[in-house]
Order: sequence, then C-alpha cells, then structure tokens
Amino acid sequence: MPLHLTFFWWATIGHVLFGVTPVGAANLTEWKPRSIYQTMTDRFARTDGSITAPCNTTEGLYCGGTWRGTIDQLDYIQGMGFDAVMISPIVENVAGRVDYGEAYHGYWPLNLQALNEHFGTHQDLLDLSDALHSRGMYLLMDTVINNMAYMTHGRDPATAIDYSVFTPFNNSDYFHSYCQVTDWNDFTNAQLCQTGDNQTALPDLYTEHQEVQDLLIDWAGTMIKTYSIDGLRIDAAKHVDSGFLHRFVEAVGVFTTGEVFQREIDIICKYQASYIQSMPNYPIYYAMLDAFTQGNTSSLALEVDLIKKACPDVTTLVSFSENHDVARTPSMNSDMALAKNILTFTLLFDGIPMIYQGQEQHLKSSGTPRNREALWLTKYDVESELYRLIATLNAIRRHAYEMGADYLDDETATIYRGGSELGFRKGVEGRQLIMVLSSQGSSQAKPYSVTLPSSYNAGVAVIDVLDCHNYTVSDTGELIVPMEKGEPHVFFPTSLMPGSGLCGWSKSNATLTELKTGSPPSESGVPPSLRIPIWWSRWFCWGVFLVLVTLVAG
Ligand SMILES: *[C@@H]1O[C@H](CO)[C@@H](O)[C@H](O)[C@H]1NC(C)=O
Ligand SMILES: *[C@@H]1O[C@H](CO)[C@@H](O)[C@H](O)[C@H]1NC(C)=O
Ligand SMILES: *[C@@H]1O[C@H](CO)[C@@H](O)[C@H](O)[C@H]1NC(C)=O
Ligand SMILES: *[C@@H]1O[C@H](CO)[C@@H](O)[C@H](O)[C@H]1NC(C)=O
Ligand SMILES: *[C@@H]1O[C@H](CO)[C@@H](O)[C@H](O)[C@H]1NC(C)=O
Ligand SMILES: *[C@@H]1O[C@H](CO)[C@@H](O)[C@H](O)[C@H]1NC(C)=O
Ligand SMILES: *[C@@H]1O[C@H](CO)[C@@H](O)[C@H](O)[C@H]1NC(C)=O
Repeated sequence: MPLHLTFFWWATIGHVLFGVTPVGAANLTEWKPRSIYQTMTDRFARTDGSITAPCNTTEGLYCGGTWRGTIDQLDYIQGMGFDAVMISPIVENVAGRVDYGEAYHGYWPLNLQALNEHFGTHQDLLDLSDALHSRGMYLLMDTVINNMAYMTHGRDPATAIDYSVFTPFNNSDYFHSYCQVTDWNDFTNAQLCQTGDNQTALPDLYTEHQEVQDLLIDWAGTMIKTYSIDGLRIDAAKHVDSGFLHRFVEAVGVFTTGEVFQREIDIICKYQASYIQSMPNYPIYYAMLDAFTQGNTSSLALEVDLIKKACPDVTTLVSFSENHDVARTPSMNSDMALAKNILTFTLLFDGIPMIYQGQEQHLKSSGTPRNREALWLTKYDVESELYRLIATLNAIRRHAYEMGADYLDDETATIYRGGSELGFRKGVEGRQLIMVLSSQGSSQAKPYSVTLPSSYNAGVAVIDVLDCHNYTVSDTGELIVPMEKGEPHVFFPTSLMPGSGLCGWSKSNATLTELKTGSPPSESGVPPSLRIPIWWSRWFCWGVFLVLVTLVAG
C-alpha cells in the first residue's frame, strides 16, 4: 500500500476508535486574527532537549531538531502570545551532502509520499498537530510545489539527473526540460527554468500539465487531512505557473500564503488580484528596513499609503521582518531600540504577523545560511527583552480585535512623519491603536517630544502599553509623546484596557459593550440578557429621548 494511503488509514482509524476529531483546514477569515511563529524544524528544538548541541550554520548539516522537540517547546512559543506555528517542509528530502551542506531546511524534496525521518515519525507529526490544536493553536505547513531536488555535484543538470528516483514524479515528462533561470525578473523565464545551482539541481515541475497539477493537489489534500493542517505557505510561488498557483489555492481550500519575493508593490498587488490572496509583504519589509536600519522614514510612510491603494486587500498579507531567506535585521544595525521598533511595526501593521525563530533573542547573523541558527543555543530565554516585548504586542493586538474584529479589516494610516519619527493608526475611531516609532536608536542624544496633531478626541485618556504610562489628549486634540532613547510607543484608550492582561489589568473576555456600559466582564456568569446596566441604560436613554420629543412637539 502506498505510504500516503497508510497515513490516511491511520487517521481514519484514529477517528473511529478514539473519536479524534481532526481540526484543521482553516480559511482566511479564521487566520486573520492569528499571529504566527516560524520555526525551522531542524534548528528549533531537539528531542533530547539539549541546549548545548553544536550547530555550525555555515557547514549546513542536520543539527538534530525534531517535531517532538517542537512539541516540548510549545510553552516557549505560546508564552509570546503566538497562536499559530509554521513548520518547515515535512517530506523526505535528498540524502547526501554538497559543498554547502545537507537538506536540513527541507526545501529539497525527493519523495512526497514519505516524511523526512530526520524530523520524526508519522506519529510525531500527528502528535505535534494535536498538541497545537489542544492549545487552540494553528499549524501552518511550508510546502514546495515548484520543484524536486537532485545533487549533481557539479555535473551538468541537463544530463545528470536520474528522474526515476522521484516519487511520484518518476519520469522526466513531469518536468520542464532543463534550463537555468537567467532573468529572475522575467516571470516566464523564472517559471520555466530551474532555480538550483550546479551542485544541487532543482528540477522544475511541469506545473502547466494537468497530471502534475492533479498529483500535487491530491498530495496536499492528503497531507492536510492526515495531519489536520490549518494552512500552507507555498515556497517559491513566483516560480510556479501562475495559473496552476491559482488552481492549487482554490483546490486545497485552506488559507495559503505564497512566497513572491519582490519589492514592487504592483507585482504583489497583481498577484493578489489574480492568483493568491496572501503573500509575505515584501514591499513593506523593504520599506521597514529603509526606516529602521537606514533612517529613511519617508519610504515607509509612502509605501504604507501606496500598497493600500494598489492591492485589493493589504490586511490579508503576511507581515514579517525576518525569515530564513533574509539577513536578520540586527545584522544591519544591532541597536536594541531599533529592534523594538521593527517588532512593534511588524506585529501591529496590517495583515497576519509572522515572526521567525530567533528574532525574539535578538540574533544578529546575516543572510542564508547563517540565519538558521540552532535556537536551543539561546537557551529559550523567556526573560529576554524582545521575548517580553512580543508577548505585550501580541496581547494588545489580540485585545484590540477582541474589542471588534473590524480592527483587523481597518487599514493602517500614517498620521505623523518627522525626520526620525513615524506615527501610525489602525482601528475604528474610538478604539484605534496608535504606534509612534523612532529611527534614532538607543543612542538618541537627548529627550524631546513629538506632538501628534490628530490621535484621539480631546480629553481622552490613553495608555502607552509598552511602559504603562498614562496620557491625556489635550483640549485642542493634541497628544504629546516624549521621545527618549529611541523607544517605540503604543497607545490605546485607557477605558478599553480592562481584560487586556496588560499594565495591571487582568486577562478576561471583556467585550466592547461591557466596557462602554461599565458592566463587569462575562466571568460573573450572568447571562447577557440579564445584564442590568446595559438594558437599564438603553431604556433610560430612550425615556429621556421620548420625554424630550414630547416636550419639543408639545
Ligand atoms: C470561514 O470558516 C468559518 C468557520 O467555518 C465560516 O463561518 C466562514 O463563513 C468561512 N469564511 C469564508 C470566507 O469562507
Ligand atoms: C564551521 O564550519 C566551517 C566550515 O567547515 C568552518 O570553517 C568553521 O571554522 C566552523 N565554525 C566553528 C565555530 O566551528
Ligand atoms: C558552478 O557554479 C559556480 C558558481 O556559480 C562556478 O564558479 C563554477 O564554475 C560552476 N561549476 C561548474 C562545474 O559549472
Ligand atoms: C513510475 O511510478 C509508477 C507508479 O508507481 C510506475 O508504474 C512506473 O513504472 C514508474 N516508472 C518508472 C520510470 O520508474
Ligand atoms: C528615502 O526613500 C525614498 C523612497 O524610497 C527615496 O526616494 C529617497 O531618496 C530616500 N532618501 C534617502 C535620504 O535615502
Ligand atoms: C493610569 O490610569 C489608570 C486608569 O485611570 C489608573 O488605574 C492607573 O493607576 C494609572 N497609572 C499610573 C501609572 O498613573
Ligand atoms: C475566554 O473565553 C474562552 C472561550 O469561551 C475560554 O476558553 C477562556 O478560558 C476565556 N478566558 C478568560 C480569561 O476568561
């Protein structure tokens, strides 16, 4: 029996015998409130729980991370307030090594119907999925559908590849005939040719062909069912035939975000309009670097505005500032205050945030492969400054949308731009969140203040959730923000803080109505229909209104 059928049977038997209801298969609406932590399985956590096992990133060998290790570190992830985890690709990869290493990252598929045994067993992956779901967290699977991989060790990929080794694509007919991508900005060239190099060829699947399409769609569907996967990231989506990309996304029916590694807003927005609703937000990523590593605030203010106008929906893109393909931001500037500003913007800007493992520990390595550090060497420090900052930012984001899911649909607007300051607002009037960021870094010479001409209504009390200081908007509607040591600020109306779990308020399921009417959060156990303050105040208002109408009419 083919392996994928074996998996399927196990899932079915589990369902029948133990009443396990596979969760999974979440759509875009269900993903929008989520906040994702990106792991690279081999480098995140080991089964033995080691925090000393060496891992030389430039050697590029497997370092021993596993799905079981990931299960054991879910507290670490959840402790930052994340409610989804992306894992690196799960399928069996090519064995062996080239000059720059092995397939530890998972992007060199060999057999789609077997798992990468370095990461664990079928049961381990099921257990990881269950462990996430039992915490109310989602599982996002990174997925390669553009190519397979073959080590040619310098031989010519046009002749050296033995296609019979691939499963299920065991024949050269399933592939484009060999050519190397020569122009990465020519999409036809980039989609028909190979992205690999002369050591590891990445034979390019003939994704225009119906049979290849069907096999990939069936495979993805089986994985989603078997492991109760909630969403997918499509690696190298730009290199997949766009028509197929669209068909694939529709067919798998789960939330899917596709890597289109381009800075140009018009390309990303065209993809969104035509092929795939969600992509990592590369245009904003680059503009963020301009602001916080180059000190160019105009670029970010401009792009925030442009992308909103050009894209069908900027709130479905994935907001990120580091990942396994780009240099870590502290490698460009290691200032701690800048790292805080970057994280604040990443987590509170439009879209679904995704934070790459290690950003919370202020790792400073430059690009691939150095940015794939073994996280265990940081000892999973839950006291680190950025770990705690992320927890606060995830908490206020969650609280803002618990006050109304329209928070997520409301697009960020730039409300202030100075030589080294940026102010952004997101959310519906009256319960908007405002961030004031600085590109100065912690070496900022002396304190000064910034006056926001528009923020909240005059007289409104707000709190900076990052340091718990209270502010009141002046009678003329100005909010005066002290700028010190390059620190970011995040404001929210004080009256809406109960239930947030921040600045001394306990965490509870407060709703906007309750906060506005002053009734206690739902934990009192009183059914909503009997909550006197709400009803009473409504009847009272109506009474006053009727009396007034009568008086005026009379
Ligand atoms: C997403 O799934 C939820 C829950 O199953 C459902 O209520 C909602 O209508 C779905 N949204 C879309 C856009 O399909
Ligand atoms: C890592 O591996 C590279 C390449 O083999 C080697 O040059 C370097 O010294 C190693 N680094 C450490 C810290 O062992
Ligand atoms: C392989 O590629 C490298 C770098 O692009 C190049 O220096 C080398 O000559 C190539 N080797 C062969 C055998 O083509
Ligand atoms: C490819 O796999 C199919 C299905 O398993 C098999 O029938 C066929 O003989 C294989 N072809 C080659 C060239 O190995
Ligand atoms: C800042 O970025 C903008 C937009 O990308 C660019 O036009 C401008 O030249 C940059 N300014 C500096 C000082 O680099
Ligand atoms: C800020 O305001 C809140 C609500 O009025 C109050 O409970 C809290 O003690 C104030 N905090 C400080 C530091 O003054
Ligand atoms: C909030 O509500 C959810 C679902 O009703 C519940 O599981 C959770 O325990 C509640 N949290 C608090 C802090 O009351």
